[in-house]
Amino acid sequence: MAKQMQGKVAIVTGASNGIGRAIAEMYAAEGARTVLVARRAEVLEEVAAGIRKTGGEALPAPTDVTQEDQVTALFDKAMKAYGRLDVLVNNAGVATHINTEDIDLKYWKEVLDINITAAFLCSRAAIRIMKNQQPQGGRIINMGSVSAKTPRPDSLPYTTTKYAIQGMTHQLTMDGRKYGVVASIIHPGATLSSFTTRRGRTEAGAGDKPEDFVMAAEEVAKVALVMATLPPEVNLYEATILPNHMRSFIGRG
Ligand SMILES: NC(=O)c1ccc[n+]([C@@H]2O[C@H](COP(=O)([O-])OP(=O)(O)OC[C@H]3O[C@@H](n4cnc5c(N)ncnc54)[C@H](OP(=O)(O)O)[C@@H]3O)[C@@H](O)[C@H]2O)c1
Repeated sequence: MAKQMQGKVAIVTGASNGIGRAIAEMYAAEGARTVLVARRAEVLEEVAAGIRKTGGEALPAPTDVTQEDQVTALFDKAMKAYGRLDVLVNNAGVATHINTEDIDLKYWKEVLDINITAAFLCSRAAIRIMKNQQPQGGRIINMGSVSAKTPRPDSLPYTTTKYAIQGMTHQLTMDGRKYGVVASIIHPGATLSSFTTRRGRTEAGAGDKPEDFVMAAEEVAKVALVMATLPPEVNLYEATILPNHMRSFIGRG
């Protein structure tokens, strides 16, 4: 069977761990030439080695996506290697858990930098390429969160940035129409990643109670694959994927 992303070029941020890694591995397994982005070069090399072992194509591109000059260098590197860009996944991000009155301005700005400004910098660079390539256009997939719908207590910077990325997605897909650029957003619930390992969960699946179920990152990657492989005229604009028993999100029952 033909691979679903054969001939496509994808850039995935936050590809060294969790959801981004699973998306990068799935895209590469489906034939995409995949650019792996995160700060930890040695981990990206490991992810790339795993992809190549199974016949896939991956280019590690260590980048701090909050830094404008590094983002410029990243997109230059991707274009030099592959000559076009079909899919950008803005996935890199951090979670926060802190009382509002204890948040200092430096921390607030750091979270905004990675959770919003990085997506702006990468989207701007992607649009400049997608607008000018033939065939024109491409897709931008942003990582939201169920926190953009139902906030968690004591998470002001996280909730604010996830609501913001929803707005960014709406604006990008509206303004991208003239160039065939399509933007979508995924809102995951509890998924195995450094977010959950920090809270003591090192394996996906059931916990002590039904509501403790943690999804495997591959489940979220399946949604990112559908979004990336629809016809260019069609947009799976928004998808919320969560454990069915996540009562904190869909309550009473
Ligand atoms: N896991 C969940 O339950 C969940 C739920 C809803 C939404 N999300 C969203 O999913 C996305 C991915 O998170 P995750 O859960 O997979 O967490 P994760 O395991 O902590 O992965 C975060 C990724 O972002 C990268 N990153 C962080 N800062 C960066 C920077 N300045 N430049 C480049 N890369 C950077 C990290 O790599 P390096 O450290 O190597 O740079 C890592 O690869 C986030 O946007 C998060 O908000 C997660």
